[in-house]
Amino acid sequence: MKKLVDLISQEIKKAFVQKGYDEKYGQVSQSNRPDLCQYQCNGAMAAAKEYKKAPIMIAEEVVAELQGDHRFKEIIAIMPGFINITLSDEFIAQYLNDMQRKENFGCQKEVSPKTIVIDYGGPNIAKPLHVGHMRSAIIGESLKRIFKFMGNNAIGDVHLGDWGTPMGLVIAELKRRKPDLVYFDESYSGEYPEEAPFTISELEDIYPTASAYSKENPEFHEEAKQITFLMQNGHRGYMALWKHMQEVSVTDLKKIYDRLNVSFELWKKESDAQPYIPEMIEYLKDNGYAEISEGALVVDVKEETDTKEMPPFMLLKTDGATLYSTTDLATIVERMKLFNPDHILYITDKRQELHFERLFRCAKKAKLVNEDTNLQFIGFGTMNGKDGKPFKTRDGGVLRLEHLIDMVTDEVYKKIMENRDMDQAEAKEIAKKVGIAALKYGDLSNQASKDYVFDLERFTSFEGNTGPYILYTIVRIKSILEKFNKTGKKISDDMEVLKPETPVEVDLMLQITRFSDMINSAYQEQAPHRICQYIYDLADKFSSFYHETKIISDENSEKRQASLILLITLVRDILLTCIELLGFEAPERM
Ligand code: ARG
Repeated sequence: MKKLVDLISQEIKKAFVQKGYDEKYGQVSQSNRPDLCQYQCNGAMAAAKEYKKAPIMIAEEVVAELQGDHRFKEIIAIMPGFINITLSDEFIAQYLNDMQRKENFGCQKEVSPKTIVIDYGGPNIAKPLHVGHMRSAIIGESLKRIFKFMGNNAIGDVHLGDWGTPMGLVIAELKRRKPDLVYFDESYSGEYPEEAPFTISELEDIYPTASAYSKENPEFHEEAKQITFLMQNGHRGYMALWKHMQEVSVTDLKKIYDRLNVSFELWKKESDAQPYIPEMIEYLKDNGYAEISEGALVVDVKEETDTKEMPPFMLLKTDGATLYSTTDLATIVERMKLFNPDHILYITDKRQELHFERLFRCAKKAKLVNEDTNLQFIGFGTMNGKDGKPFKTRDGGVLRLEHLIDMVTDEVYKKIMENRDMDQAEAKEIAKKVGIAALKYGDLSNQASKDYVFDLERFTSFEGNTGPYILYTIVRIKSILEKFNKTGKKISDDMEVLKPETPVEVDLMLQITRFSDMINSAYQEQAPHRICQYIYDLADKFSSFYHETKIISDENSEKRQASLILLITLVRDILLTCIELLGFEAPERM
């Protein structure tokens, strides 16, 4: 189904052509003076230059051509040469009826669907998830859903951080605490226990202690490095401990991602890319892409046009050890081999931008990807506290993601209990959904690259531009529909949305018609905040409409009643689709 703005443009273009002008001048856009008209075309101004005529004359000719067209209620030329367009009520209603019957409300899918790997997890085993991981998860999950909605094959990969010194540190600390564990007995050759010798909370306590301790004790740091080296080279006991760490962490991570309504198609790990490294290094050396510089193996990724410093991309340190960069490059090799994607998208804190820029240059230069493989990085800003500094706990520590989720959920629970009389258990369940909506909407309603302030009070408010307000609107519509169902009246298949009867109804309908246009921008610009803007407007227009319109009333004729019910059902369905794309759900009531 064509976007409404394209349908209108098509007619205006035809008229331009009829009058002997180029069709490009007929492009229409949403009016920036909604008090005057719904759509506008400013092409006569530009055409005036080419055809050396007064713009108003051109506009008048075009407008004359379109008089009597059933699609327009009013189409007029305004000085100096604007064309102001107001659609006919029948045309708007017809468009809505078409939307309702079509899959995805008539939104056209991608004509050439792509395979897209999205790397938006990046949690590290043995380390708790923090707010940075949350932003990555929230934004990535939404983009993935938008990509899929448009018909692409989008594959989310958690890309677990399970490689490198942190693992060695944890094992070294465990050895300090429990030296008698069988994993540390070098002469032991039997099977290792199935059960991990630590719980998730122990594990999370071990890493910070070990990390702090290693800063003060160089020998301990050395030992951790040695352990890491041995583990990476197949030491049985250390490998077994590492496996335990993975299992314990992954179980816990899945729980938290689940609470966030985030799920990954792939649970790949940094270690999965390791087998690709030796051959990749050989290839890079043999083909002259990599060179030794001050003892390290690097790829020069400078380009002539660079205005900023572009350090070489390092693959092997002087001692032969691999790095984060080596793993990321090998992961590209792995992804190309396993999925042959058209597009690989990474979503992390924008402080990693330079790393990714160099990674992409290296992959392209060395032809590890195809010429047209789209390697893309989206860097997000920081979530700040009200003081404008990165959000911290009260005692200044890094806030753990779980605690953040609890905090928001508790606040929502409090609000629900303050305002209504509800069973505690039910309120708890509702608060879970509403809390996640508050958190995600608070994040996604900002442009990803921007920093934003985490404002618990505002995010959880049931009014204003918030997740809970959107959910509240949905719940309200659901309850009207329930009421209607209780009247026992039925809507037969031949009933339709009729033409609007009031200005608020026109506004609501017009907002609905913009769905495809909005989804297309959200998709093209990879911008979930477009969806937030749209549903906030939609919810607002619904609210004005609701205040002025009697929906369940015997004064309405049967057809009018059915039309109103179909209309609000459409609003509900669009809102539900949109929140699904943002990655949260609505409760039945709240
Ligand atoms: N584990 C990393 C971190 O916590 C993020 C990984 C992001 N993805 C990647 N392919 N480098 O910072």
